[in-house]
Amino acid sequence: MTDNSGLNPHAWRAETLALRAAPLRTEEREHSEAIFPTSSFVFDGAADAAEHFSSGGVDDNVYSRFTNPTVRAFQQRLAALEGGEACIATSSGMAAIMTLCLGVLKQGDHVLAAQGMFGSTTAQLTRYMPRWGIDVDLVPLADAEAWRAAMRPNTRLLIVETPTNPMMEAADIAALSDIAHSGGALLAVDNCFCTPALQQPLALGADVVLHSATKYLDGQGRCVGGAVVGRHDLIDTELFGFMRSFGACMSPFNAWVFLKGLETLPLRMRQHCENATALANWLVSHDSVEQAIYPGLPEHPQHALIARQQLASGGMVSFVVRGGQAAAWRVIDRVKLMSVTGNLGDARTTITHPATTTHARLSDEQRAQAGIVGGLLRVSVGLEHPDDIRADIEQALAG
Ligand SMILES: Cc1ncc(COP(=O)(O)O)c(C=O)c1O
Repeated sequence: MTDNSGLNPHAWRAETLALRAAPLRTEEREHSEAIFPTSSFVFDGAADAAEHFSSGGVDDNVYSRFTNPTVRAFQQRLAALEGGEACIATSSGMAAIMTLCLGVLKQGDHVLAAQGMFGSTTAQLTRYMPRWGIDVDLVPLADAEAWRAAMRPNTRLLIVETPTNPMMEAADIAALSDIAHSGGALLAVDNCFCTPALQQPLALGADVVLHSATKYLDGQGRCVGGAVVGRHDLIDTELFGFMRSFGACMSPFNAWVFLKGLETLPLRMRQHCENATALANWLVSHDSVEQAIYPGLPEHPQHALIARQQLASGGMVSFVVRGGQAAAWRVIDRVKLMSVTGNLGDARTTITHPATTTHARLSDEQRAQAGIVGGLLRVSVGLEHPDDIRADIEQALAG
């Protein structure tokens, strides 16, 4: 193993952290990180095994449901990029949200979550948490006064996604962190759309960052995974203990893939943003498009907040086509270059009809609240040439 002794990683920029934070090197002196595909680790005898099992913490190697060197390297590098003290990697983005909720909440607690979050997040919170005696209220994301008014003495957690999937609404992280902390609650931010390359919620006052590593952290649509980043006391004790018992852990192979993804994250995000900006600027004046939704457009209602909070506007563009669901489905059926799939954050451009796929499990009321209409399409703008991406949508809209 190696370390960054003699260097000062705290002074490094994202590009350097992405490549050099938390290096993992064995006595074989390999340049790129090895994978440790092992489910368990060996001991020097019975007493040594007993000692590791009883006192083994996040830095020990006992069993890969708790810790694994490849997974640890991914956790440490992502924590460094987010400016957090610690990270726990999970089997998916949904498992990250579940690990946080069940790891910190108990029966009788109350959660405030944003309206218009990713469909499965809303389903997890509103369908399942109440079964375990945890009350959840949904609040309009951008209305700080509504968050303040919805706080109860037993509110323990505020959870938001910013910008949201797929409506690109933004939360004022600093304002929500004040509201959460004044009531003794934690603020968790799903940073899936921005990644630490564009937004650092912890620096703005959030307590926890959630990730679906499946998206931009991987960047090539290969593995499913997630992560929770925050303070040592929360991650390395409460959530680590929860993971040991509940087991929604990340595999070493997936961690290795995500570790490789992180290396190019800042570079990729710059190009995703550039390509998305080009597409949004073109869509906004297209005759068949009722509304183009992109944080970087001056007509986005929270343009100023986003410019303050994010380094750039991101790689996701949504738009509403004239003619409702039938017209939106026609566009999907006609695209030739982009992939018709539910994933996002891939190097390849993907197109999705949220109302009938990613957000189909929401009630009609929840969909209406979130503004997910039949004509809405979501494009995760990839790294193909922006002219080729535009030409594909152009011919699909023209048809
Ligand atoms: C914003 C957001 N959070 C969480 C998730 C869930 O992630 P996963 O599919 O890795 O469980 C998704 C998936 O699309 C998402 O878009």
